[in-house]
Amino acid sequence: MTLQTKHDKDDGLMTQQRGQWGTRLGFIMAAAGSAVGLGNIWKFPYMTGENGGGAFLVIYMVCIVVFGFSLVMAELVLGRMAQKTPVAAFREIAGRRWSPVGGLAVLTAFVIDSFYVVVAGWTLAYIGFEASGALATTNSETLSATFNDLIGSPIQPILYAGAFTIACAAVVIGGVGSGIERASKLLMPVLFVLLVALVVRAVTLPGAAEGLEFFFVPDFSKVTGETLTAAIGQAFFSLSLGMAAMVTYGSYIPRERNLPADAFAVVSLDTLIAVLAGCMVLPAMFAAGLSPGDGGAGATFLVLPAVFDAMPGGALFGVAFFSLLAVAALTSAVSLLEAVVCYLFDEYGLSRAKATIGSSVALFLLAIPSSLSFGLLAGAKLFGMSFFDLLDYVTSSIALPLGGLLTALCMGWVVGPRAAQALSPAGRSAPRWAAFWLFVLRFVAPLGIGWILVQGLIG
Ligand code: PHE
Repeated sequence: MTLQTKHDKDDGLMTQQRGQWGTRLGFIMAAAGSAVGLGNIWKFPYMTGENGGGAFLVIYMVCIVVFGFSLVMAELVLGRMAQKTPVAAFREIAGRRWSPVGGLAVLTAFVIDSFYVVVAGWTLAYIGFEASGALATTNSETLSATFNDLIGSPIQPILYAGAFTIACAAVVIGGVGSGIERASKLLMPVLFVLLVALVVRAVTLPGAAEGLEFFFVPDFSKVTGETLTAAIGQAFFSLSLGMAAMVTYGSYIPRERNLPADAFAVVSLDTLIAVLAGCMVLPAMFAAGLSPGDGGAGATFLVLPAVFDAMPGGALFGVAFFSLLAVAALTSAVSLLEAVVCYLFDEYGLSRAKATIGSSVALFLLAIPSSLSFGLLAGAKLFGMSFFDLLDYVTSSIALPLGGLLTALCMGWVVGPRAAQALSPAGRSAPRWAAFWLFVLRFVAPLGIGWILVQGLIG
C-alpha cells in the first residue's frame, strides 16, 4: 500500500501530487480498518445487550442496509469527486452553503476521538492484565472488581489514554501510508481468525444458548424511540459515517475504480465483525450468569477474560486478543485524528506536525473528564448522564444521524446525477440502479433518519 497524501512527508509542497490507494485491497483494508474498531467489538455487544437484543439487531441491520450502505457510497463518492477533505469537498462540490456540514463532521470526529482514546486505553491496560495473570479467573465478581478498579482510578486510565493518544499522533505525523495500512492488512485478518475461535468457544459454554436466543430472536415489545436512535447512531458510528473519515478516504480512490463494489465490501466486513462480536460477548455473558444489560460499557471487558480462562492457553489468547483490539482501535482512531489534522492543514495551513500535536493535546485534555466520569466525577451528572455518556450520546445519537441526514440531502438534491455518474469508473455511465440510490438519498434517508431523530428526542 502506497498511500501518500500531499500532507505526507512534505508539508510545504502544495504542488506535490495527491496520493491514491495503491491497490483495491489496500483501500478496502484501510477503510475497513477505520470502520472496524471498538465500535464493533466493545460498543455493539453492550448496546445490543442494553437495547433488547434481537430487536436491536434487526433495527441495526435495517439501518445498515437502508441508510448505511447508501451513505457510505455518498461519502466516498463525494471525496473522490473533490479529491479534498470534507469541508473543502462540500464547498467545492455542493457550494459554500454546505461547508458547515463538513465542519460538523470534523468537530464530531474530534469529540468522538476524545472518548475513544479512553476505551482504547483500557484495552492497553488489559494486555498487561492478561499477561500478568491478573485475570486468570472465571469469577465474575473478581473480574468486575478488576475492571472497576481500573476505570475508577484517577491516574492509571488517563495515562493509558495518553499513551494511546501519543501512538496515534506518531502514526499521523509520520503519514498514514508508511506502515499503518501495511500493518492492518496483516493484523486485521489475524483479529478475524481469533474472533472466530472465540465465538466457537463462547457459544459452546454451558448456558450460552440463551445468549444466542437473546441475540437472534427479536422481541419488538422492547423497542422504544431510544432503541431506534441507539441503533442508527451505532450503525453510523460503526461505519465511520458522518465524521469526515469516509470522505477523506474516498478522496484517495482512483477514478478507474468501481466504487460501489468497494463500498459493499467495507460495509459487509464491518457488519460481519459486529455480529461475530455479539456472538462472542452475549453468550459469554449468559454463561457467566450475568444479564445482558449488566456491565454497560464494561461488558466486553468483564466477560472476555472469563472466556479466555476457560480455554487452553487462555492467557496467551487474552494477550493476543487485546493487542489486536488495540491495533483495530488504533486504525480507527488514526482516521479520526487524520480528519481533524487534514482539516487544520487544508483550511488554516497549519503544518502537519503542529496540527497533529495541537489537536492531540486538546483531545487528551478532553479525554481526562471522560475518563474521570468512571471515578472521581461519577456523581457529576449533566442531563442525567456522566460526561462520557453525554459526549457519546450527543455525538452518536444526534450529531452523526444529523450529519448523515444533511449529507443525504446534499448528495441527493444538490449533487444528484453528478454523484451517480461519479460512482462508475471514469468514462462509463452511471450504474443502472443509480436512480434508486438517488431516491434513497433524496427521500428515504432524510425522512427515515429525521423520523428516528425525532423519536429519540421525544423518548
Ligand atoms: N468506526 C469506528 C469503530 O467502529 C469508529 C470510528 C468512527 C472511526 C468514525 C473513524 C471515524 O470503532
